[in-house]
Amino acid sequence: MEIIDQPEHLEPFFGATLVATMGALHQGHAALIHDAKSRGLPVLVTVFVNPTQFGPTEDFSRYPRTFDSDFKLAQAAGATALFVPTVEAIYPHGVAAAAAEAAAWDLPNVATAPQLEDAFRPGHFGGVCQVVARLFDLCRPSLACFGEKDFQQLRVISEMVEQCRGRWSHLRIIPCPTVRDSDGLALSSRNRYLDASQRSSALAISRALNAAAIDTVARSGGAAAEVRMRQTLAEAGLKTQYAAIRDAQTLMPITVHTTHARAVIAAMLGAVRLIDNVAISLDGDE
Ligand code: PAF
Repeated sequence: MEIIDQPEHLEPFFGATLVATMGALHQGHAALIHDAKSRGLPVLVTVFVNPTQFGPTEDFSRYPRTFDSDFKLAQAAGATALFVPTVEAIYPHGVAAAAAEAAAWDLPNVATAPQLEDAFRPGHFGGVCQVVARLFDLCRPSLACFGEKDFQQLRVISEMVEQCRGRWSHLRIIPCPTVRDSDGLALSSRNRYLDASQRSSALAISRALNAAAIDTVARSGGAAAEVRMRQTLAEAGLKTQYAAIRDAQTLMPITVHTTHARAVIAAMLGAVRLIDNVAISLDGDE
């Protein structure tokens, strides 16, 4: 597996399948790389902890940087090359200028209207769109795999690509299912911040989502399912930021036009913020 740190050396990998990451790779990333590999193109994995998508009180400086194990995992999962750019390569005009650009990013509605991640991480999607657009411009992938675990991010990136069809005319975004531990906890780079007792409390998130997924949710809004999810989280000592049933396309409350729905949760366990989601069937679905 080749390591690239200069954008000028990316040309042999134009047209590959991209797996964009911030490192701290785990089996969820391995599954993304496997999925990418199954598409039959070279797989380019990027590792870049993007400063512009972290808020001032978030964990940018302590975000785990684990290059040696990232290298081993990407190689074992079958990546063709690893692109590990410097901050200067991604933001040649400096981080302050990049942060100003991210704050002014022209975002799709799904990044600003739902009041989910957008409400609790203001500025986050500006930084995500900015860095992903930069990676697409530099790497010129044919396909790009993103995990459903960050469901609003997946929707935001898909919409950004649709809105910029002239810029990335042949690029296709591939959604990849969330990978879970055998007890249901969604894999996340932030799980390493949890101690054993917090990890066990964190299982309330998948429990709450599964209960919502088992109940067929009425189109009237899923209010009862939302109350049950909040209760399950509170009983386990989690502070709910949101627990909602939303239209899987717009991430707005479900309506008569909703064809697919998603239960989405963000909750705090001490200082650790966890998110997860599952597909929900609506009454009237086949
Ligand atoms: O999901 C992530 O790891 C990041 O948000 C991404 C897409 C790599 C952009 O920095």
